[in-house]
Amino acid sequence: MDIRVVRGDIAQQAADAIVVNLFEGVTAPGGATGAVDRALDGAISTLIDEGECKGKLNEMTLVHTFGRLPAKRVIVAGLGKSDAFDLDRVRAVTASALKFARGKGVKSVATIVHGAGIGGLSPREAAQALVEGALLGLYRFRRHKSSDQDSGEIEELRIVEFDAGKLSALEDGLRIGRILAESTNFARDLVNEPPNHMTPAILADAAIEMARQVGLEAEVLERGQMAELGMGAVLGVAAGSHNEPRFIILRYKGDGAGRPKLGLLGKGITFDTGGINLKGAEGMRTMKGDMAGGAAVIGAMRAIGLLRPRLEVTGLVPAVENMPGGGAQRPEDVVRTISGKTIEITNTDAEGRLVLADALGYARQVGLELLVDVATLTGAARTALGPKYAAGFAKKREVLDQVIAAGERAGEPIWPMPLGEEYTELMRSEVADLRNSATDAAGGAISAAAFLAEFAGDTPWVHLDIAPISFADRETAYHPRGARGAMVRTLATYALRLAES
Ligand code: BES
Ligand code: ZN
Ligand code: ZN
Repeated sequence: MDIRVVRGDIAQQAADAIVVNLFEGVTAPGGATGAVDRALDGAISTLIDEGECKGKLNEMTLVHTFGRLPAKRVIVAGLGKSDAFDLDRVRAVTASALKFARGKGVKSVATIVHGAGIGGLSPREAAQALVEGALLGLYRFRRHKSSDQDSGEIEELRIVEFDAGKLSALEDGLRIGRILAESTNFARDLVNEPPNHMTPAILADAAIEMARQVGLEAEVLERGQMAELGMGAVLGVAAGSHNEPRFIILRYKGDGAGRPKLGLLGKGITFDTGGINLKGAEGMRTMKGDMAGGAAVIGAMRAIGLLRPRLEVTGLVPAVENMPGGGAQRPEDVVRTISGKTIEITNTDAEGRLVLADALGYARQVGLELLVDVATLTGAARTALGPKYAAGFAKKREVLDQVIAAGERAGEPIWPMPLGEEYTELMRSEVADLRNSATDAAGGAISAAAFLAEFAGDTPWVHLDIAPISFADRETAYHPRGARGAMVRTLATYALRLAES
């Protein structure tokens, strides 16, 4: 989709549709909506009077212009109550309006920037949110459909602003929003791809190709190199699969003098059958998405490569398939991690924390100083938080708060969760240093995080369990069903903020 900022009057735009807006409860539209209303001889006011156009959040009202304006149609997008309006509503309303337009066969759209006028949001942030909403909302995964029965695509989006003084801020927002949304959609593609089309080797190739395009360094370790490094936990999980594991390393070398070297770590289980502790049919549904943490890291590294913050960032993704093959690891096996700590395998289905244990150990060995891991780690986090929040853990509340704040800005809410010795206790083994599943199923998201904390050691570290939000069963405004591309925008926003701090 071609997206541009243009200076002009929305009412004078020639397009298949122009988008204006209305807050709930407004009876006499003002601003751009008022101007369009006048050009339509009060058609919008009439629809408001008749109760058809209420301005409710994501309500779309279609008015045909029949030649009274250069545009063929006007879409009045409901913004909801003005006191609840925020950046996330800009994303949602934009996504709803464009999906609505696409459904009508519209190819070209001109829109005002919701929130940049009466909404009181900063023009740059509003434009960024608008572009994010547009690209995220219109996303579809259709790679494996041989015939295309969906409606066509919107080809052109024009962001129209009358005030010349706001144009450069809007351009900035457009650039950042586009990078963040396209990186999110890139991660969504990786997650939505069926597991026979997204093996560890294919994921690594996709990361290498992306790195080449945006100018990152990429290195991929294979089984032999992982063995030399002593990554026994990754190799234990990999043992049951014919698909070879990969350890993906992406490096971005911004000028980060005085700032900590940031490490982003993502769980990259390309399919989780559970291994010998095999899952049932329902438990395996969506397990092609068990590499969503890895996809988040690869997507965020793409955004970072394009946005070029003054910071050094390394992305690490252990990519492994968890299968119950003849060579698979067993419950009661003991593996040795890169850090030297040993783990008793008490459940082969708790594989994410195993591959992350080696990734954390590797991150510390190569001198990364601030670590954030992202993982579809536990069903327990889903049970605890439902579909809205990711679970956030850290030893130091201050570091967690900064990641939570980045998530808020990105429209990705994170709920803080506890850690503590009582939970670490549940992860001690009689035969090894640690066990990989707790002695008690209660508090499963916390005991999993407590396990990871042992491998983060004293390096500042945040763990995000995205099992609650990585995969959407129901479509919402700017998330279609399926992969959400969770945490790409949060990680990239966090990196940008670190670079500016
Ligand atoms: N990948 C799963 C967690 C998961 C479940 C993610 C549902 C998304 C949706 C993980 O590897 C797993 O199987 N965890 C086990 C841990 C248990 C064996 C200690 C779980 O949550 O049941
Ligand atoms: Zn598992
Ligand atoms: Zn898993």
